[in-house]
Amino acid sequence: MENPFRPSAGATPPEILGRAGVLDEFEYGLRLGSGAPGLLTIFTGARGIGKTVMIGAAHDIAREKGWAVVSETATAGFMGRIGESMRQLAEELGAGPANRRITAIAAAGFSITTQLPPERQVAWRTLGADLLRILDERGNGLVITVDEIHAADRSELAQLAASVQHFIQDRLPIGLVFAGLPAAVSDLLNEGVATFLRRADKIDLHAAAVREVEESFAGTFAEAAFAVSPDLVRRAAEATGGYPFLIQLVGYFLWKEAEINQGLLTAETVERAIEAANRRNGRTVIEAALAAASPKDLDFLHAMAEDDGPSVAGDIGRRIGARTNLVANYRSRLLAAGLIEPTAHGMVDFAIPGLRQHLRAQSRP
Ligand SMILES: Nc1ncnc2c1ncn2[C@@H]1O[C@H](COP(=O)(O)OP(=O)(O)O)[C@@H](O)[C@H]1O
Ligand SMILES: [Mg+2]
Repeated sequence: MENPFRPSAGATPPEILGRAGVLDEFEYGLRLGSGAPGLLTIFTGARGIGKTVMIGAAHDIAREKGWAVVSETATAGFMGRIGESMRQLAEELGAGPANRRITAIAAAGFSITTQLPPERQVAWRTLGADLLRILDERGNGLVITVDEIHAADRSELAQLAASVQHFIQDRLPIGLVFAGLPAAVSDLLNEGVATFLRRADKIDLHAAAVREVEESFAGTFAEAAFAVSPDLVRRAAEATGGYPFLIQLVGYFLWKEAEINQGLLTAETVERAIEAANRRNGRTVIEAALAAASPKDLDFLHAMAEDDGPSVAGDIGRRIGARTNLVANYRSRLLAAGLIEPTAHGMVDFAIPGLRQHLRAQSRP
């Protein structure tokens, strides 16, 4: 048996933990068809929490039910790429009057520019409607998934939303599944770029229960006939905090240690695996998240790291010597970047596990 853990972005884990029932409404929507609330779903959550994996799971369910799926990431030009995929789908569905029309409409292509010019937008919508009619006749529909919408160009997103709204008004079977960082997605929805998306089912993803991680680890290691005490399995599960990326990392390094030691996991090797997992989490998720932070953002974060738990805005302001409105400014920047999250009573905490320790270990800039 090979190492089943998958500590890399978007990779399907051996077991999807803590997500029971999360896709029920979406699945029900596929049954009901056009206009069902579950067909508009937005996943939000911190980096490494499992948004991309949920998009993949929604994709698989839709395919199982016979729906067509187009999956995109919201980098520039995604509308054009969706248009191209829709054309290809129509081609695969075979010839027919509607298909001939689609081919004619799409002949000029969609992916040439980063933003569709107005006449191509019209073509996009006509093509979409034609494709959806063909799918509707076959008793299914189309699901479009767009990942990382926090990075989306506002006007492209507005175009997509307006078109989908149009399809829904025409009772066409369309589903839309988005994923992005929580604060950035709220900003997007509040800015009015795509007002109709506010109706979407917003699912904020959180860490899995540590208990569930423990059971999963125990099951996986038993299956592999590794010798490890229940206490050590619990220790390893607790070290993940239920945070999906760490679940994969800790599992992965535990597996490697067991491989080296003829299937035996000792207290020492478990600690080594946890350390390796935390280091990798720091190098990948945390450094990527911090890459876009300005020196002032970092001052703010270091001021937060002085606390052992959630921070009060006033304290942060005092530590960095900034006025209230400036603190509020940085607070919203960091929220949108997915580095911090609000807790009760206007306090803030780190949104990524290990970020506090990572900052403490660094010398102040
Ligand atoms: N529910 C889950 N249970 C266990 N592992 C998960 C789960 N969701 C995601 N993972 C793992 O966590 C890591 C991050 O998942 P990903 O979907 O890329 O997160 P995000 O898109 O939110 O940054 C991947 O290694 C993935 O295999
Ligand atoms: Mg992702």
